[in-house]
Amino acid sequence: MSILEAAALTKRFGPVTAVDGISLDVGPGEIIGLLGPNGAGKSTTLHMLLGLITPDSGSIRMFGLELGAHRIEVLSRINFAASYVDLPGVLHVREVLDVFARLYGVRNPKARVAELLDLLELGPLRRRRVMELSSGQRTRVQLAKALVNEPSLLILDEPTANLDPDAGDRIRNLLVRLARENGRAMLITSHNMQEVERMCDRIHFMSAGRVVASGSAAELTGVYGADSLEEVFLKVARS
Ligand SMILES: Nc1ncnc2c1ncn2[C@@H]1O[C@H](COP(=O)(O)OP(=O)(O)OP(=O)(O)O)[C@@H](O)[C@H]1O
Ligand SMILES: [Mg+2]
Repeated sequence: MSILEAAALTKRFGPVTAVDGISLDVGPGEIIGLLGPNGAGKSTTLHMLLGLITPDSGSIRMFGLELGAHRIEVLSRINFAASYVDLPGVLHVREVLDVFARLYGVRNPKARVAELLDLLELGPLRRRRVMELSSGQRTRVQLAKALVNEPSLLILDEPTANLDPDAGDRIRNLLVRLARENGRAMLITSHNMQEVERMCDRIHFMSAGRVVASGSAAELTGVYGADSLEEVFLKVARS
């Protein structure tokens, strides 16, 4: 069964066609990467899948259900993290996770929050206010929040952008483990080509709202005669 099937999505903002006929397919436990230059339409695509903005045309189905008609059910089974989303700053880390656990109707919120604090290594920060945290610490809270409902699909917009190399590596390992062992599917964007190479089963390169190349990292480097995904990116972005 497909987790996500999006077909021919288009979104215009005035004269700008941000997304121009994108189709995506994500299966259980798959990690799919959306790459492309600034302004290519990656975040806009994710925002349509999250129901934050409505596509001008195209269709979105998750778990076999049409997003528009089954919004609550679909949204309860997915989650999202991005550094540009603000969490309630005056709350302590533990309180934020507790609020989200209750919003999602998690059965045993206390136990789930303890699990997440452990998983994201947030134990020592649990009584700190979110607004006092560093950007990398906040990123880990965002990821904990994104896992609160044990989502079948995680949508992550540049999930490791603020993390130091060590924290980034730990988070990548964690996400890959969640995909492989718990079957959580992920759709991620990133400008870190090594990260994409390491994590993603399939990659879609976007440019000016369209997918211009797709495949595994190995397939793409082969097709473009490149030594690395970074080289593929430069070739695609500059062609
Ligand atoms: N709310 C909006 N109103 C008007 N234009 C928008 C809006 N959101 C996005 N755009 C435009 O749509 C295009 C795609 O933006 P988007 O944020 O999807 O790019 P992106 O691929 O995520 O880029 P980045 O790598 O910089 O995050 C850009 O030209 C942007 O200016
Ligand atoms: Mg973006």
